[in-house]
Amino acid sequence: MSDSAGIVALRPFLKWAGGKRQLLPRILTLVPPRVRTYVEPFLGGGALFFALAARRRFERAVLGDFNGELISCYEAVRDDVEGVIAKLAGLRNTPDVYYEIRRQNPERLKPAARAARLIYLNRCGYNGLYRVNRGGLFNVPFGRYARPKICDPERLRAASQALAGVELVQGDFARVMARRRLGAGDFVYLDPPYVPISKTASFTGYAGAFSMDDQERLAELLRRLAAKRVPAVLSNSDCADTRRLYDGLAMESLPARRAINSVAARRGPVAELLVQTRAVPPGAACYGAAP
Ligand SMILES: C[S@@+](CC[C@H](N)C(=O)[O-])C[C@H]1O[C@@H](n2cnc3c(N)ncnc32)[C@H](O)[C@@H]1O
Repeated sequence: MSDSAGIVALRPFLKWAGGKRQLLPRILTLVPPRVRTYVEPFLGGGALFFALAARRRFERAVLGDFNGELISCYEAVRDDVEGVIAKLAGLRNTPDVYYEIRRQNPERLKPAARAARLIYLNRCGYNGLYRVNRGGLFNVPFGRYARPKICDPERLRAASQALAGVELVQGDFARVMARRRLGAGDFVYLDPPYVPISKTASFTGYAGAFSMDDQERLAELLRRLAAKRVPAVLSNSDCADTRRLYDGLAMESLPARRAINSVAARRGPVAELLVQTRAVPPGAACYGAAP
């Protein structure tokens, strides 16, 4: 990671619904220049984590996600990247191989093979979606890409270096945040599954549904962080519900295009809201036109 080639390679190695590539430049300006502990409890593809790691902006990091396959994958890339690369190198992009890998029970695989399975399904499956059925089995169909990059050793090795020493936690965001003594020198980024912008529009690509009660719990968490003066940023869809949840905190509306949506027709521009815990002058809490 220390040379410029390393920084070029330091990017998410998974395509993940809600990846923050488009909002990154703005979010990066809201992160303090030097962070003691960086906490990201909705990791997904980790776009902000990798961007901050490339810039050496934090001393230590705690990353979490509800999705156990995802966290196991990061653990294997952190602890045995050469094993993961070796497993991926042998996999071909054909429907037969894809459905055979999809049928495997990940819990019976060794860590490197389990991580390679997720990366392979992510590169070769339809739209990079992560979706499981009621029984917990991955059910995304083959993606029919001409030449997907199944194994990118340079990117995986750079990711492994960035993840060295990083604490990875599987579970609900409250578990990731529990008993952390965070203060003004730390930074938290919260990127939950978004509040649906209409009753019919909901993201189905996640391991667990994120209800309005969960959104309320998260808003309480952000308010507690604000009370303790912990710098934090949250992103969500810009809609009346979100503005109500975060009323009184600093909000900023940004136009954005989501890269992955399970319903192709809804891939249009969706405004996103960034909420911060930093203090803002009275009357200046929200900028950007109301939705
Ligand atoms: C919008 S995505 C995060 C995208 C990420 N910022 C990126 O760059 O790819 C939301 C993530 O939250 C996770 N998630 C869903 N419910 C959760 C919960 N209750 N606690 C923690 N993570 C959760 C999902 O598995 C998903 O990876």
